Amino acid sequence: MSTSYKDLGLVNTTEMFAKAVEGGYAVPAYNFNNLEQLQAIIQACVETKSPVILQVSAGARKYANSNLLRNMARGAVEYAKELGCEIPIALHLDHGDTFELCKDCVDSGFSSVMIDGSHHSFEENIALTKKVVEYAHANGVTVEGELGVLAGVEDDVVAEQSHYTKPEEVIEFVTRTGVDSLAISIGTSHGANKFTPDQCTRNADGVLIPPPLRFDILEEIEAQLPGFPIVLHGSSSVPPEDVDTINKFGGALKDSVGIPEEQLRKAAKSAVCKINIDSDGRLAMTAAIRKVFVEKPGEFDPRKYLGPARDALKVLYMHKNANVLGSAGKA
Ligand code: G3H
Ligand code: 13P
Ligand code: ZN
Repeated sequence: MSTSYKDLGLVNTTEMFAKAVEGGYAVPAYNFNNLEQLQAIIQACVETKSPVILQVSAGARKYANSNLLRNMARGAVEYAKELGCEIPIALHLDHGDTFELCKDCVDSGFSSVMIDGSHHSFEENIALTKKVVEYAHANGVTVEGELGVLAGVEDDVVAEQSHYTKPEEVIEFVTRTGVDSLAISIGTSHGANKFTPDQCTRNADGVLIPPPLRFDILEEIEAQLPGFPIVLHGSSSVPPEDVDTINKFGGALKDSVGIPEEQLRKAAKSAVCKINIDSDGRLAMTAAIRKVFVEKPGEFDPRKYLGPARDALKVLYMHKNANVLGSAGKA
């Protein structure tokens, strides 16, 4: 038996994105895999009065069980109300790669799905995305497609020109598929090592400065699709303080470089209305947990290290909403 997202108290992204495009801000899309991440996201978004997209990847479904995650999202809606603010909450499949996975999410209560056909040919991407859109729209679920491949040094792919979204393709893709939003590639990438050191310059303190995002491509896309919701993946900023804390307390993260927050702020003021952040949360949690383990080696109650990790996450998300995405006060 299938479950509608409406029965879980969730919303799709239509109204969220219309308001974000109009208001010049981006809705945060934060990934979650466990209780503490979800608590931090909801607490931060309620306190900053921000709409939010809860993102679940295929890996998260495998790790945590999809039924449990879907019911945690239902619980999150009730938790937000209990905290005193009814914020719009969407439950979104991050990087769906098959029609079957997207269908399963639509049938189990997700309000939004991403079909990532960006690794296929243009025609195959259109065919797959269109099939997902037809099924999802019949159930009131919104769909994010992707054009252009995000480079990732983890995949040994360098951010070359050829991987960026081609502005001349976006109208045809959006028209033929019927997608509700479009993820594009303008120089962001996934993970904590977004650029190799030789792609960066160094400032006076020796800190690696990445090449700027391709705002020229974003502007061309906006000109092709005025007012259409654009999505930025790979938007963690990889705060050097968290990397330093991790390394100070026994970690070994090297060459960690993210997207400068000022550039994300600029993107959020444009047609970019959804910004995906996962790695920064992972870093904040890991830094907090490593610190407790080193400073209090006698602790073995998981609440004593997951609690501080949750608090650090909440601070991070409140900062993102208020100072980077501009979504604070928009719920
Ligand atoms: O873009 C990917 C997200 O950060 C999710 O990562 O597949 O390891 O859950 P994951
Ligand atoms: P980061 O790895 O930069 O956090 O990107 C996350 C993301 O795009 C999830 O889809
Ligand atoms: Zn992504």
